[in-house]
Amino acid sequence: MDPQQQAIAEEFDRYRESYDDAVNRAIAFSGQKVESFTRAKAHDLLRTIASHFGSQRELNLLDVGCGIGNYHPFLTPVVGSVSAVDVSSACIAKAKERNPVVSYSVYDGDRLPYPDEKFDVAFCVCVIHHVPPGRWQQFVNEMCRVTRAGGLIVVYEHNPAHPLTRKVVHDCAFDRDAVLLTMAQSRALLEGAGCADVTTRSILTLPPMAGLAERLDGLFARLPFGSQYRALGRVT
Ligand SMILES: C[S@@+](CC[C@H](N)C(=O)[O-])C[C@H]1O[C@@H](n2cnc3c(N)ncnc32)[C@H](O)[C@@H]1O
Repeated sequence: MDPQQQAIAEEFDRYRESYDDAVNRAIAFSGQKVESFTRAKAHDLLRTIASHFGSQRELNLLDVGCGIGNYHPFLTPVVGSVSAVDVSSACIAKAKERNPVVSYSVYDGDRLPYPDEKFDVAFCVCVIHHVPPGRWQQFVNEMCRVTRAGGLIVVYEHNPAHPLTRKVVHDCAFDRDAVLLTMAQSRALLEGAGCADVTTRSILTLPPMAGLAERLDGLFARLPFGSQYRALGRVT
């Protein structure tokens, strides 16, 4: 493994048991917990893929940089299958304990351990800002390689223009080396990987409360005020 990537993997290995606590400490001022943000983004992902494919039931999803598998309890009851990969072997071990139906792998951060066009959807949540910037394009290229033509790439990232997001990143113990990327940079990465119909939209402009608040959040999608954003592209 590349030494920089190895250091990142080892850093996250240390959070195998305390990942949620570290995030919860950084977002404590908001009165929310990591689970609320996870649920809101998992629901956004499910709505996004349902509107593209018509249904989620038969779809094979890949979660790149899955950490301890926080998203998987929201996805596995609804989609065909979930595979997930991370550079942190300790996080993958924890994720396996929590989600026995998910197919997990550890990899070197370079080439994803799957054949071309295996998945319908590849997504990543708050991962690219931990990848060394010189490797960002390769990271997205790999997501595209393992996704079939007509499939989707979905990237969730922090909005660097949002002051409270910057505070969270500053206060979060494992974000010391994070390099946040703008919506325009994410868009360029997806386009650079050959995706078509690339779009970005703000998410989490409103606090992550279930039900109506999640739906109302969509009203602010075109404004750059969300604490995070979603970039979406279709593999060609
Ligand atoms: C902030 S955590 C997010 C975990 C998970 N996506 C979530 O939102 O709960 C970032 C994760 O990215 C992983 N990571 C860092 N570089 C990676 C790479 N090149 N490929 C895959 N995962 C990577 C880390 O090991 C860590 O688990």
